[in-house]
Amino acid sequence: QEAKPLDQFTRATQALTHIFLKTEVKPVVGIILGSGLGNFASQVENADVIPYDEIPGWPLSTVEGHSGKLVLGTIAGVPVAVMQGRVHAYEGYEMNEVVFPMRVLGMLGCKKLIVTNAAGGINTSYGEGALVNITDHINNTGRNAAIGPNDKRFAVQSGFGQRFFDMSNAYSPRLNALAKAEAARQGIALHEGVYMAVLGPSYETPAEIRAFRTLGADLVGMSTVHEVIIARHMGIEVLGFSLVTNMAAGVMPEANINHEEVMQIGKRLEPQFASLVKALVPQVAAA
Ligand code: HPA
Repeated sequence: QEAKPLDQFTRATQALTHIFLKTEVKPVVGIILGSGLGNFASQVENADVIPYDEIPGWPLSTVEGHSGKLVLGTIAGVPVAVMQGRVHAYEGYEMNEVVFPMRVLGMLGCKKLIVTNAAGGINTSYGEGALVNITDHINNTGRNAAIGPNDKRFAVQSGFGQRFFDMSNAYSPRLNALAKAEAARQGIALHEGVYMAVLGPSYETPAEIRAFRTLGADLVGMSTVHEVIIARHMGIEVLGFSLVTNMAAGVMPEANINHEEVMQIGKRLEPQFASLVKALVPQVAAA
C-alpha cells in the first residue's frame, strides 16, 4: 500500500517546524524581495539566516541573481521574515510550489506582506528606475495559485480561507496611503500602477505590450500575483512595489531587454527603495 501524499498544509507545517528550530523570531511582516533588490535583507537586525535548501519542501530557484535565503530578525524593532529570492512558474514549478513560501510566511505569523518585483514599464510616464506602488493586478498567466482542494486551515484571520474569495482590495488602499505619504516625506518619486503578470520566461513582443496597455496595464512582470492571491486567501494584507528595470518591449524603439540590465537597475535603485521600505515596516506593522 502506497503512502498518501502529504497535503500542502502538512508540508508547510514541516517547513515551519524547521524554521522554529532555527530562530526565535516570530515575524509579523513578511517581505519578498524581487530581482536586484536582494540586498535589502542586510537591513535586518539580529538576523537569523536560513538557506532555502535547508527548509523541507521549500522550492529552490534555478535563475541566476535570485539567491535563496530566509532572513528573520527585526527592522525598526518589528519582527520580520524576509525572502531573499523566490521561484517563478516559468522555471517549471507548479502553482502550489511557487506559493509554498507565501503559505509558510502566513503560518509563521505574518499578517502583512510587502511584496516587490522587477518589472517592465508599459506606462510611458515611467522611466527606467521608476519606483511604482502597485494598486492592482491583472493575472494574465493563465493559472491561479489557489487552484486545488481548498484548505481553510491556512486562514490567518476569521472569515478567510474560503474557496472563493474577494480580490477587490487585494492591494491594500490604506497601506498604499501610508506608502504615498512616506515617499512624499522622503522626497522619493513614487508612481502608481497596475501590474500585469505573464508566465514568461520570454519577454513580451511589442504587440503584446500595446495590447496590455489597452487592457489597462502599467507594468509587466513574471511574479507577485500568485503570492498576492494566496496572501488574500489567507487574510494577509498586501503592500506591493515594482521597480521599473526597463521600459517594456517596443516602448523605447531602439532598446532591447536583457536580464543583466534588470539586475543592474535594481542595484542602482536599492538605496532609495531600502529607505522607503525600512521606514514603512513599522507603519505597516502598526496599521
Ligand atoms: N517583462 C516581463 N518581466 C520583466 C520585465 C519585462 O520587460 N522586466 C523585468 N521583469
